[in-house]
Parts: sequence; C-alpha cells; structure tokens
Amino acid sequence: MTGSWWKSAVVYQIYPRSFSDSDGDGVGDLRGIEERLDYLSALGVDVLWLSPVYPSPQDDAGYDISDYQDIDPVFGTLDDFDRLLAGVHARGMKLIMDLVVNHTSDEHPWFRAKRDWYWWRPARPGMTPGTPGAEPTNWRSFFSGPAWEYDEESGEYYLHLFSRKQPDLNWENPEVRQAIYAMMRWWLDRGVDGFRMDVINMISKDPALPDGPGGDGSAFYLCGPRIHEFLQEMHREVFAGRERELLTVGEMPGVTVDQAVLFTDPARGEVDMVFQFEHVNIDHGPSKWDIKPLDLVALKATMNRWQAGLASVGWNSLYWNNHDQPRVVSRYGDGSPLAAKALGTVLHLHRGTPYIYQGEELGMTNAPFETIADFRDIESINHYAEAGPSALPALRARGRDNARTPMQWDASPHAGFTTGTPWIAANPNHKEINAADAVSDPDSVFHHYRRLIDLRHTEPCVVHGDFTLLLPDDPSVYAFTRSYEGTELLVLANLSAEPAQAAIDPAWLDAELVLATLPDERSTTLRPWEARVYRR
Ligand code: NOJ
Repeated sequence: MTGSWWKSAVVYQIYPRSFSDSDGDGVGDLRGIEERLDYLSALGVDVLWLSPVYPSPQDDAGYDISDYQDIDPVFGTLDDFDRLLAGVHARGMKLIMDLVVNHTSDEHPWFRAKRDWYWWRPARPGMTPGTPGAEPTNWRSFFSGPAWEYDEESGEYYLHLFSRKQPDLNWENPEVRQAIYAMMRWWLDRGVDGFRMDVINMISKDPALPDGPGGDGSAFYLCGPRIHEFLQEMHREVFAGRERELLTVGEMPGVTVDQAVLFTDPARGEVDMVFQFEHVNIDHGPSKWDIKPLDLVALKATMNRWQAGLASVGWNSLYWNNHDQPRVVSRYGDGSPLAAKALGTVLHLHRGTPYIYQGEELGMTNAPFETIADFRDIESINHYAEAGPSALPALRARGRDNARTPMQWDASPHAGFTTGTPWIAANPNHKEINAADAVSDPDSVFHHYRRLIDLRHTEPCVVHGDFTLLLPDDPSVYAFTRSYEGTELLVLANLSAEPAQAAIDPAWLDAELVLATLPDERSTTLRPWEARVYRR
C-alpha cells in the first residue's frame, strides 16, 4: 500500500437502502447510486463507503450477510456493481465496501454446513436446555435479550452478539480466517479500494466465554486476546504487497486511545484508522437509551484526548454521523442549517480523515417518528418490545432510523428518493431541506461542506497541522488552532443558541477569514451557531 493518501481524503458514506431508488420498488439500489455520482463528485469527496449490498435476509438491514460474493437482487447485480465502480473510478473517486465478518446471517450456507466455524455451547450445567436462564453465559445481545439462541436440533446454543439471525463466527478456527481473506482478495481483485470493517474488534473472544458483570460480556469480546494477531494476519494475507492505494477503517466500539495507537501504527500493519465511540457515547448513561444532555466541555475534552493520543503515531477518523447514530444537527445542534455548518466546520478541521454520512451535507435532521409503527430498525423494535411505550422518547431521539430515512433529493413526493412507496417514510422537511435547493444556493450547508472539503485538499495545515484546543472550559465556544510549517489556522464555533464571547487573542480578527457562516463583523462575539476559520 502506497503512502497515506487517505490523510487528505474525505469519505462519504452511502446507506444504499435509503440513497436513491432507480426502479421504484421503494428501496435504494446500485443504479440509483450511479445516477447520483455527479452530485457526489460536485461535493468533492474522495472515497465512497457503501454500507452492505450483499445478499441478505435484511434482518439487520444487510449487516446479516448470506453470501459475501454477490449483490442482493434488491440492490442490483454484480454487473451493476462493476458499472458503478467504473463510474466512481472514472470520476477520480474510490469505493470501499463494508466488511461484516464478526458474524454472518444464519441463512449463510456456512451456518449449517460448517458447525465449527461458529460458537456452539451446551446449556449451563444443571439447567434444562432451552429453558429461561439455561443459556451458556449471561451475555446480553446488543439488540435486547440473551446473546445465545437455542437450537432444538442439536440441543446446543449458538452465540449471537447482535440479532439471533447474526451468529458470530469463530475466528479461532483458521479455516474461517482463510475463507474471509480469500473473499476480501476477491473484492480487491475486482477493483474495490478497501474496507470499512464492521465491529472488527469483536472478532477475538476469550474462548472460555465467561459470565460478565450484569450480563455484560464485553470484557471477553472487545479487543480480545488475539485481536492484533488476527488483524496483522489479515493485513499480510490480504493487503500487503498490493501497489494500489487502499483504505482500511475498523469500527471498534469501546476502543481506547492507547489501543487505537496500536491498531493504527503503520509499522504494525493492522488498519489505517479506527472508528472510536467516546464522542458519541457522551450524551447517555450506561444504556444508549438513557439520554443525557450534551456537555460541550466533556465533548471537547474527549476529542482533544484523541487528537493528542494519535498525534505522533497512528491516525484519527472523524465522524458525527453514520447509519447507527441519530443526526448530529438534531443531537448536538438545534436542527438549523447554521448548526449543521458549525458542527461540520469543527469536525472537518480536526486532524484525521473526515467521514460524511449521506444527507449530513444538506443538514438533514432527525425524523418526526410518531408511533412504533413508524420505525423499521430491529434494535428499536426489540427495545420497544422489552421496555414498552415509555421507550418512545428515547427511540425518537436516539433510534438508528433517524439516519435511515430517504436521502432528500428534492421537494417532490418521497423527497425524490423513489417513484414507489419508500421502505421508510421520508422526512416531511424535505420540502425545505433537499439537494436540489442546496446545490443552487451558494449559502447552503452543501456548499459549506464543499468548501470544507476543498480547504482540506488545498491547505496542508488542515491535513498535517498540530492541534491545540483553546478555551477547554468554555461551555459554548469550540475553539482550536492548527499549525504547520509557519501557517496557523484558528477554528471558532459557537455551539449554542446564545451569543458567546470568544476569549481569543483579538489580533486574530486581522487574519485572513478563510471560511465564515455569517457576514464578518470583526468581533470576538460569536452569534448563535456561528463558525469562522482564520488563517495567518
Ligand atoms: C455495526 C453496524 O454499524 C450496525 O449497523 C450493525 O447493526 C452491527 N454492527 C452489527 O453488524
């Protein structure tokens, strides 16, 4: 793999189900994406990441894969894929695939044909198999209920950290690993430019699978005993020696800064960068449904720790949104275009590779879900089944469907996403928030994002500069500098709905104003949700 080209790149995540539907069946597809490539090219992004498009029963919206080497008919065919990839490359962009190999679907042929590729265990000693509490361990699944499913036929249980239709693969078995590496090589040979690796820090488990405190088994499956060995082996078997520019990013819930340094140290040959979760876990308690207000001081401290921790070795990924997170403009902002711009500015000017989630560049917001019937996501539906109607406010604020409503292309019915009936309703605010309007308005969130991307491409200080957090204790102002070879940038944002005094050196007001979201008033007072970037 050559260089670190991805340090100056911006990645755009496409959630294919919800991006663009070319055939009117209500579900987005590969041809739909192909039709929108000029839009993405105009935005200026370098890499597209596709959430899973493989054959799948769609129990977890495609993160339950039944064939790793094909395309689900709902999304198209391998020919459609090749055409899309060619279109991406023709525009000078790259495309990375979602790699979901902690688990397969229970409908993957491996599940019945290769029993020892999965985690099977007998019932807890002394308990009757299949009765409540007889599960081999007390682990809870991420989607409610036990992480074990009883199989009548064999009288044993299999492990599933996610839904019961997502059995975990047993990476202790070298055959599993070789099958996965062969599949990855097949995609690279086909021309894809890398992988986003789903919950990749869960692939190594303590084979004893001990009970965890309160049913939390994470100590035995997050960054387990052989995780570095497995990732290094994958690197050797799949990526080493390839001359093309590739990108690997590992999704790693619970990863610490110290672990991330090891995972992303180029000398160790593991992954290029990781998705950490601390900055998106800051506004809830131990359960994601236990909502707390955002503490901006804590958010800044967290981001700062990651900036400092990966300053000399390794690399950060930068994200606010993805298909699992509520929309940041509704979550850390007030839903307004100004807040979308301020949050985007702050994120993109940290050191690391920024990820944009579809619609973020329009300021798309959370959806006005009314009843449980409006939700589609298994995580939300299972939680509601367990917790009851009192769970609704938390589902509305934090449910993953907020990110999964159709991409808002224009003001027409269903936001121009489909001519049919969408699999999940479009947000009614598509009449005001949509790509057609945004592209034609130079002051839109879209054009602000375009300018942020352009700044990364043209100003080396954005890519390489040292990061220094200013005003760490200020409850409203997010301020930092970047500096590189004599150039200094100051990023200032008021992440509140009240005017805020930014206690910075007023000499900065004489510097070049590179980006601003409101007309320049040459004042250290920031208007609500205002953001500015100075250079000197
Ligand atoms: C993380 C993915 O981002 C999420 O959407 C999925 O439900 C789980 N992993 C299981 O694959």
